[in-house]
Amino acid sequence: MTRMETSRATTAKQLRPYTRPLIKNAWYVAGWSEDFGDDLLARRILDEPILFYRATSGEPVAVLDVCPHKLAPMRLGQRIGDDVQCGYHGLKFNKHGQCVHNPQGNGIIPPNAKLKSYPTVERYSVVWIWMGDPAKADPDNIPDFSVLDDPKLKPVKGGHKVESNYMMMVENLLDLGHALFLHANTGGMGNLQLTESKITNEDGAIKDWRLYTDIPTPSLFAQFLNEERADLWSDIRWSAPSVLLNNAGVSPVGRARDKSVAVEQYGTHFLTPETQTTTHYFYANTRNYALDDPAGDEAWRQWQRKALKAEDSMVAEAIQSVVPQAEELEVEMVVLSTDLSGIRANRILEEMAVAEEGE
Ligand code: FES
Ligand SMILES: [Fe+2]
Repeated sequence: MTRMETSRATTAKQLRPYTRPLIKNAWYVAGWSEDFGDDLLARRILDEPILFYRATSGEPVAVLDVCPHKLAPMRLGQRIGDDVQCGYHGLKFNKHGQCVHNPQGNGIIPPNAKLKSYPTVERYSVVWIWMGDPAKADPDNIPDFSVLDDPKLKPVKGGHKVESNYMMMVENLLDLGHALFLHANTGGMGNLQLTESKITNEDGAIKDWRLYTDIPTPSLFAQFLNEERADLWSDIRWSAPSVLLNNAGVSPVGRARDKSVAVEQYGTHFLTPETQTTTHYFYANTRNYALDDPAGDEAWRQWQRKALKAEDSMVAEAIQSVVPQAEELEVEMVVLSTDLSGIRANRILEEMAVAEEGE
């Protein structure tokens, strides 16, 4: 191999996190509970068009949004009780995807007239969907996001589409050091020195802990802590493939992570691949202070618009735009010490992808 070929091969290998096949055997977030009502909702997940609705019992139903007759999208039809009827020739399917009525001709239902159906679970105010082998779908493997339902906390929820592979956002969240630069003017966290950092592995979930001690209280929390200086921590837990729970907060100096004095929030970050290069991003910031204060809600809404959308997602999309050309440009990517949790997450995902490719 020439030097140029070697360099290109290295870059291609390094791009694998952004180009490897999407993991199917996993729980993904299909949306917030309130996204799902009586109406039909179409949403593409892992490049499969899926139709959602609630059965009369309230349970979320997920079936392929493609009629097996002439491939008409089922979303063009209508929901009738627990069933959904195709808007083209009227085949009707029950909540398990089985065809139960043919209004045409002899009325016979062909034995293979069915819609693929997907396991769903509603938990933590979220609808989860399993995209792989239904026999492997175990709801016990859904990570704990009970903070979203905790009555002592107040969530502010949001979401938007990111025009990038989901891993750009996962890596962004696993290295929260980016806040010191990318969000320096948004959260008032510029130029801080990391005091402590460690990575732990809890039942396959990777946790990256970071602490900054005795710093000017970041503006994001300043009006609620009433201390000029504070300890700030920013910890994040990643569970495969793409759900993360961040805990960030401030306390009087010397009392980091002490719940009794902390002004803190939990950031819930759900990255669900829409396609290989686009991502549904569902997020919430759930705080332990000023629960009934609309100004507290508005502060987090602003943070979401600015930090999560205009800053984080903007960078993710800009990186995505470089990916197709990176090999040709021979950009050999470098690794920093703070990339370690991202490297570990990628190692787990690579094993999952390889296992699925071999299935
Ligand atoms: S395409 Fe659906 S019934 Fe014909
Ligand atoms: Fe960020």
